[in-house]
Formats: sequence, C-alpha cells, structure tokens
Amino acid sequence: MATKMCTPVRLEPPRGVSLWRRMPDDELINRVTWKIPNALALIGSRHGDTWNGMTASWITQVSMEPVLIGVGVDNKAVTHRLIRDGGAFSVNLWSAEDTRVFVKFSKPAEKTDMQLNGRPIREGVTGVPIFEEAVAWMECAVRHAIDFGTHTFFVGEIVDCGINDDEARPAAISDTRMKYGGVKRGGH
Ligand SMILES: Cc1cc2nc3c(=O)[nH]c(=O)nc-3n(C[C@H](O)[C@H](O)[C@H](O)COP(=O)(O)O)c2cc1C
Repeated sequence: MATKMCTPVRLEPPRGVSLWRRMPDDELINRVTWKIPNALALIGSRHGDTWNGMTASWITQVSMEPVLIGVGVDNKAVTHRLIRDGGAFSVNLWSAEDTRVFVKFSKPAEKTDMQLNGRPIREGVTGVPIFEEAVAWMECAVRHAIDFGTHTFFVGEIVDCGINDDEARPAAISDTRMKYGGVKRGGH
C-alpha cells in the first residue's frame, strides 16, 4: 500500500464563540506540554546505506484495525529523510534503567559494522535497524505522512514486533531530566 500524504484539517471555533481571547504565553505552553508523560524510545530508520537511531517521545498508537503506530519527526532531522525515502521505521522501547542511551541518540548516530553508537542492531524485514537491546520493538511500514509544520507525523502499520525482556519497565520521558516539545526554539 502506498503512503498517503495528507493535509491537516484546521477546525475553526463555532460562530460567536471566541476561544482565542487570551493566548497562553510561551513559557506556560512549554511548562504544560513538558508535563505530558510520553514514552521515550529510539526510532530506527534507514535508506540505502544510511542507517540512524533517534531519541523520540512523540509516539502513540492511532488505530487497532489496522494496528497503526504514529511518530512525530522533525522535518529537519536525518530520520525524517530516511523514513520518507525508506518507507519504514522501528520503535525500540528501552529499559528505564538505561536512559543514558537517549543522550547519545539526540544527534545523528554513527554506524560501525552492525552497531549504531556502539549499540548492536540487526536488519528488520523492511530493512530498518532493530536494536538488539530494546526491551520490546515494533517495525512499521509507513501508510500515512502528515506534515503539521515543524514536524511530520508518520503513521506506520506494524509488520513485525517482539519482546526481549518482559520484566523490564520501558522508559518514559519522566525517567530523565530531558524535555522535548512546547514552542519552537532555535533548532527546536
Ligand atoms: C527527550 C527527547 C525527546 C525527543 N523527542 C523527539 C521526537 O519525538 N521527535 C523528533 O523529531 N525529535 C525528538 N527529539 C530530538 C531528536 O532526538 C534530535 O533532534 C535528533 O538529533 C534528530 O534526529 P536525527 O539524528 O534524525 O537528525 C527528542 C530529543 C530528546 C532529548
């Protein structure tokens, strides 16, 4: 199935109702959005000889039939280009006990043999990297891509998945002191 590029729909407030009387300031938007208790995981992507892993928190399931997983990816990220051109991505949930990995994957990863930033990977059925140390992983073939402005929401159907450690608790952003989201800054 081909990827559908969609345009986001903007809903206006009902006539006579002004929802936008007072816009919250940027600092409040940051403080509130940073409280969203998102998962924190590594997104694997690949196109040809270029492989990458990226720390991401904007991840959620969006449908049960088909089972679809969405991830919001910065339009300037290497990962964006690799998912767009490669047509697939992996979501690698990581142990909450090993959150240092997320610092390393906050910039484009280095690949040596079958490792990204020294973490062992294997090739999934779609060709994307699957991290051998992930607590659990999902491999997704892209079905939809919606450009919302700074980020594109890639939605993929699970084509393969597995659990490596059923006891470990997968990391959430609140297991770290890291923050992501809110209003646009320099390199966002
Ligand atoms: C805690 C945390 C969460 C992040 N979540 C996302 C995310 O959901 N989407 C995104 O595009 N970048 C996210 N980032 C930023 C990317 O990890 C970072 O910009 C990376 O360098 C861009 O990926 P690239 O290697 O594909 O260029 C996050 C960074 C941190 C530290």
